[in-house]
Amino acid sequence: MYLVCGGAGYIGSHMCKHLHEAGHEVVVCDDLSTGHAGALLWGTHAYGSIEDTEFLRSLFSRYQFDGVLHFAALSVVAESMREPQRYYRNNVAATLNLLRVMREFEVNKFVFSSTAAVFGEPQARMISEDHPTVPLNPYGLSKLMVEQVLRDSCRAYGLRAVALRYFNAAGADPVARIGEAHDPETHLIPKLVRKALGEDLAVTINGTDYTTEDGTCIRDYVHVDDLAQAHLLALDHLDHAVGMHSFNLGNGTGHSVKQVVEAVQEVTGEGLDISVSGRRAGDPSHLVAASKLARSVLGWAPRYPRIVDVIETAVRWHASPTYAAWMAEPPGSEVSCTNHDAIGAQSNQYRHG
Ligand code: UFG
Repeated sequence: MYLVCGGAGYIGSHMCKHLHEAGHEVVVCDDLSTGHAGALLWGTHAYGSIEDTEFLRSLFSRYQFDGVLHFAALSVVAESMREPQRYYRNNVAATLNLLRVMREFEVNKFVFSSTAAVFGEPQARMISEDHPTVPLNPYGLSKLMVEQVLRDSCRAYGLRAVALRYFNAAGADPVARIGEAHDPETHLIPKLVRKALGEDLAVTINGTDYTTEDGTCIRDYVHVDDLAQAHLLALDHLDHAVGMHSFNLGNGTGHSVKQVVEAVQEVTGEGLDISVSGRRAGDPSHLVAASKLARSVLGWAPRYPRIVDVIETAVRWHASPTYAAWMAEPPGSEVSCTNHDAIGAQSNQYRHG
């Protein structure tokens, strides 16, 4: 049985689907501050925050976890520039809390959602795991800090940990049961897709003066199901590997913002009139993964290497009635998330296939 922290979120909910399909029992811990109740399709939901130590203790007393997968984090670069303390509290302090409770209950397998943002401005065309880590924003630094905590915890307490450094997560469940639903949305692909589907959304190209071929930022877009699959492989890896291991997860192909605009036009058949604005603070010029280690050590093989296939799943999702229903939900952040009685009172059983 695995605990998925942040399992109502975008990547976490795809993880629950993959764990369920692989035959594992799943408990989701989520305070729905950014996640969606509609995403809780697989496993048991315990409503609460990882900042709440007593909530976590009740959870770990109730269930015997074989390991923890941790997705509960804030992840918007620009927001982290404006509100750094919120990012350090949520992404670092709350993770320390979770690790403390794991240690109290002798749960020692941990898979951590890290990010390409730990690297900062790339010094090589393709970024491998040993590339220097000099984050450009508090978001990236908060994730790097946790990686260091994990390294030290593995040495001192015998924790086994994998940090998966996602490049740009994109796409959705191919049959549109779950997907990305942020309000406001900041990410490029969902914004473009929503605009192409007719939403009145302001999308601009953030800077055309980067040192890239067409002057716009290059990113490595990787399908969310491929990311989830890597976590399953990481869990297997931790059955025999001790210590802390970091892996980069990307397709190894870079697409500029302008190329993404073209790809969305190609998939949707809609012309997009996108204007240009200035650079967005904290954006590195290009981030493309060398994921050789994940392929050779974990045996990871992405099933969506082509960006148009990734975008196609996003289009299906954003056009679905499920997506529309999620966006119409009242925001979960209005509900208190610190009442540990909520484990009994508000936990729900979800048993869908
Ligand atoms: N962009 C635009 N216009 C938009 C939105 C985005 O031009 O309306 C650009 C961004 O400036 C960036 C690229 O499109 O150059 C991709 O932006 P996203 O917001 O989709 O994604 P990020 O690259 O900012 O974020 C991703 C991950 C983060 C990670 C970060 C590292 O989501 O977790 O890469 O910089 F930290």
